[in-house]
Amino acid sequence: MHRPFTIASMDTLRTYDELPYDRLPLPETEPDFLSALAKLHGFEAADAHAARVLELGCAQGGNLIPMAARYPASEFVGIDLSRVQVEEGQMFIERIGLSNIRLLHGDIAALPDKLGEFDFIIAHGVYSWVPDFVREALLAVCRRLLKPQGIAYASFNVEAGWKLYGRIREALLRQDDASLSPMQRVMRARETLAAMQDDDERLAKEIAYLKTASPSYLFHEYLSEINQPFSFEAFVESASRHGLRYLGEAGPRRARVVLENDWGLSAESRHARWLEAEARLDEALQTRFRRALLVRDDVPVPAPQQPERLASLSFSAELASDDELDFSEATEQHFQTRTGERYPVSHPLLKAFLLALAGAWPDVVDYQTVLDHALSLAKEYGYTGEVDDAFREALLDFVQLHGLRLHTRSRILARSETGLPRASLLAAIQAGSEAWPVTNHFHQALDLDEWGRWLITVMDGETPLERLARQLAGKLEAAGIKFAPEQALQAVASYSKLFAMQGIIVWHA
Ligand SMILES: C[S@@+](CC[C@H](N)C(=O)[O-])C[C@H]1O[C@@H](n2cnc3c(N)ncnc32)[C@H](O)[C@@H]1O
Repeated sequence: MHRPFTIASMDTLRTYDELPYDRLPLPETEPDFLSALAKLHGFEAADAHAARVLELGCAQGGNLIPMAARYPASEFVGIDLSRVQVEEGQMFIERIGLSNIRLLHGDIAALPDKLGEFDFIIAHGVYSWVPDFVREALLAVCRRLLKPQGIAYASFNVEAGWKLYGRIREALLRQDDASLSPMQRVMRARETLAAMQDDDERLAKEIAYLKTASPSYLFHEYLSEINQPFSFEAFVESASRHGLRYLGEAGPRRARVVLENDWGLSAESRHARWLEAEARLDEALQTRFRRALLVRDDVPVPAPQQPERLASLSFSAELASDDELDFSEATEQHFQTRTGERYPVSHPLLKAFLLALAGAWPDVVDYQTVLDHALSLAKEYGYTGEVDDAFREALLDFVQLHGLRLHTRSRILARSETGLPRASLLAAIQAGSEAWPVTNHFHQALDLDEWGRWLITVMDGETPLERLARQLAGKLEAAGIKFAPEQALQAVASYSKLFAMQGIIVWHA
């Protein structure tokens, strides 16, 4: 289709060249997680270890590059219209020496030929932020390039919840001046935010967050020319015009759809009823953002998650509980993550399940092994029940909340035989590159101070902890920080433990 002026005819996207997007890994797009999630819906996706993955709007590859390092036998292709970002990402790939990934400078609306078909197509932060014809092209590409067992991931802003935040965007745009540079516009938006307050608790929280948010997020979300929210119905309607069907949601959600009295309905009618319920749930939950999964419409019709499918999956959880856990009654107690999210849990067997998983972390354990451990633990401390439907439903709710992580298979984290810490090449290069986050084994960005980052760069598998401690003490001293040798050794040991548990170094004390 010819247009007098389209982004497709532009050389590059200047706003992203001038203010590149954050290079964050996106755990919800991780292919093994997507495969595991698909299984819950009764859909057999490809094995992440032998897959072809395409990312549309990949920016600098902050999401795709760690995946390529993790899955050396899989192949990754990223496309982005911002030349600067693609060049930066490609240089980083060359430094790591990865040969299973390439980033291409190109337009979603005019993709190069011969890309081949893909098992996973990811488009995060694109759909709501591009012109209509690019949105259409994005869905068309998903249908055209997905293999039959392929999954597409497309995130977008949802009208139900986003319209509230649209008020902040309008207020910031009123003070904005598009003739300034992106960074100048961010500074101006920050000034506007400093004087803003709101009685609505959610808006007040967002304003507080935006005051310290990354310039890139503030600019591309709140000042971008296009930021179009969609209702869930409108999104699935567009997807269906392109031969795609809704498979499920990859983001965390506080509730899920359970279809009752659906016997005798065709798979198609059940799917339609599910979509209606999802749309109502968006209103009830005031959903602001969705990470929707799509499949081709010529494969069996997907269904909502089925609790009995949990038995085919594996799990990991970085959780702890300060409560004295009660395994005899369904009292509400809490588990929390290392970064402070708190999750309520009532079912006694679920408490035991989480405790068993937390004890195994960072290993990934299959359902039956965790369950056997949980049952013996719970029974020893007063649980008189069995593995009932209520437990499976509660576990599925917890999965839906993202309180724990799904995997398709169990995995034991590598332990070194030498006892000397050795960083992965990816972690060492990320840690030595200030603008890049260090990504852990679970595809999350780690929040590290400069000393931690530096240590990763010198953990080469040959340097004893004592020598690392002396080097660290020397660096600290040069920065005017006095550290006794035994303190430095302690610090190195605890950093090493943290890094090993996150799978970014191989080390066994
Ligand atoms: C909000 S950023 C998201 C980046 C990344 N996916 C993430 O979530 O971290 C949107 C990206 O889409 C890219 N983009 C926008 N329009 C595009 C187009 N027509 N073709 C290819 N990339 C495009 C931008 O350059 C930018 O890198």
